[in-house]
Amino acid sequence: MRRRRMRRLLVLTLAILAAWACAASARAADGITRGTIYKDGPDNRYLLGGDWLFRLNAGEGRKQRLQRQTSTDGWAKTAVPNAWNAGDNSVASMTGTVGWYRKDFRLPDRRARMDWLVRFESVNYRARVWLNGKPIGRNTGAYLPWDLRLPRGALKRQGMNRLVVRVDNRRLRTDFPPSGLTGSGDPAGGWWNYGGLLREVYLQRVDRIDITSLVVRPELQCATCAASVLARVVVRNYGDSTASVRVSGSFGGRALNLGTRRVGAHTFKSFAARLRVSKPRLWSPDSPYLYQARFAVRAGGRRVIGYRLSSGIRSVAIAGGKLTLNDRPVSLRGVGLHEDDPRTGFAIDSARRAQIITQAKELGATVIRSHYPLHPEMHELADRVGLLVWSEIPVYAVKTQYLKREMVRKLAARELEDNILANQNHPSIILWSIGNELSARPGPVQSFYIDRAVRQAKALDPSRPVGLAVAGYPSAGCRPQYAALDVIGINDYFGWYPGPNGQIADRDALSDFLDAVRACYPNKAILVSEFGAEANRDGPVEEKGTFQYQQDFVNSHLAVHNSKPWLSASIYWALQEFRVRPNWDGGNPHPNPPIHEKGLLRFDGSKKPAWFDVQRQFAATPQLGGQ
Ligand code: GCU
Repeated sequence: MRRRRMRRLLVLTLAILAAWACAASARAADGITRGTIYKDGPDNRYLLGGDWLFRLNAGEGRKQRLQRQTSTDGWAKTAVPNAWNAGDNSVASMTGTVGWYRKDFRLPDRRARMDWLVRFESVNYRARVWLNGKPIGRNTGAYLPWDLRLPRGALKRQGMNRLVVRVDNRRLRTDFPPSGLTGSGDPAGGWWNYGGLLREVYLQRVDRIDITSLVVRPELQCATCAASVLARVVVRNYGDSTASVRVSGSFGGRALNLGTRRVGAHTFKSFAARLRVSKPRLWSPDSPYLYQARFAVRAGGRRVIGYRLSSGIRSVAIAGGKLTLNDRPVSLRGVGLHEDDPRTGFAIDSARRAQIITQAKELGATVIRSHYPLHPEMHELADRVGLLVWSEIPVYAVKTQYLKREMVRKLAARELEDNILANQNHPSIILWSIGNELSARPGPVQSFYIDRAVRQAKALDPSRPVGLAVAGYPSAGCRPQYAALDVIGINDYFGWYPGPNGQIADRDALSDFLDAVRACYPNKAILVSEFGAEANRDGPVEEKGTFQYQQDFVNSHLAVHNSKPWLSASIYWALQEFRVRPNWDGGNPHPNPPIHEKGLLRFDGSKKPAWFDVQRQFAATPQLGGQ
């Protein structure tokens, strides 16, 4: 009797184990794993990893109804993130085309009450999405996350779902960055036009209530003051009836009660609370202390979603025309970078991200800059190791005739808003940059853009300065159009490029130029947002493109930057080589297109001689709390 019971128990256990193994292998086959590869965010996300399908189809895909195809004929296996043209350095690759991605998957949780979103971290550039043949939405613009709800009517709770994404990376003049042609008729652009799902794709499960935005903003009036931490959570009710929703949390282990409110069907509601931290441990590059914040949302008597993030208490301001961090005027030194990799293009993985951050630290940088919002994991790493981030949207060299168009300014405004909403909880981010190298002689169009963007950024986040990087040309003079900006970044190529009418050909003109800029904007923080020289060979120090020239260039430019106590930062362009565009020469008489060779590291990661000069100079500069 007892033996029979034992046997029955054993059989049952085996059956449960087999069912579990089967479900697990189904999940593994679909490549869906719980969680995100970065730490901050809600706890109900699932990585859509594993096998994806891909096919290139220059414009013909819709005619072939690829969004409806159920067989896998003509599709090849791929993994996501993916840049389909990584390693293809042709003009056609830079110009862009259309690629199709497809993911066949089963829901990891089949309960009927759950809603599902699909979240894309970065798609370059125009995306259209179908679920099981039905169109579910579209998006324009890379480097920022966006999501779409999977309509209940289209979603299969049991069985296989087919998610199809059409990605069009043919750059237009009105895109960020815009297309264009160089003098020789090649596609222009400041970095390679990688097409594809460049960052991860997630499924997000929603149990009626979702968190649509979450802000933890520590406010610090002075370095020895108590901090006031604002926590604001916006929730959305996906359900068909009103719900009583309670939001609670903690910051550094101290409880936060954001209250209980009724949230109507299909509406949003904001919950907020403040917490006083009387003796905060401040975050800074030399002591990147992080507070852990946690949130939980309860509805209908159960916890429907949790959220966690790391936060840091620090203040960023401009005082006496200098950037300050925790009241200390700073003279930051750092590097610009691209999330590029010789093998995978912009579809880089965690190891590559960690490597980039480690290299920046090893160089002695306290600040990094890129032309677009970085991957969320890059921001988390920067928070953790104490690197400040100049955060920019890719409003890069947009010509005035296009910036004039309302549709272009609207997209720019959306990118700015999305960047702030997605990334504002990172203590590493010290400013919002609204673009790079727009016309160096701004008129009413740029003035309008700047005024609007600054106002918008301040309304969303009053705690950070707003800046713009401009090409450093003496002929620009003092520009009243920059009045609204807190920070001006000067891209300094004195002695490298000639500039219009040869005005920056002479390296010796740099010092006076910087003084003239200072005189124009005595109350703004001025920093050098770029300086750099290409180098790919040994040779005479006078010859552009040699390692020796690059060494001499960095030493002489840094000597000038060091001599300006009012300068808030100096950022070398760039940490490492990257792909720019076909026929790129970058001012080097013996270039190696499409590689941008101003990097201190070659594309393969090896160090150029100038690396050591910059490293030595950075180490010798009191970057935090200098003059
Ligand atoms: C510009 C631009 C960079 C570019 C650099 C260069 O100023 O902002 O993206 O790489 O110049 O010419 O090397």
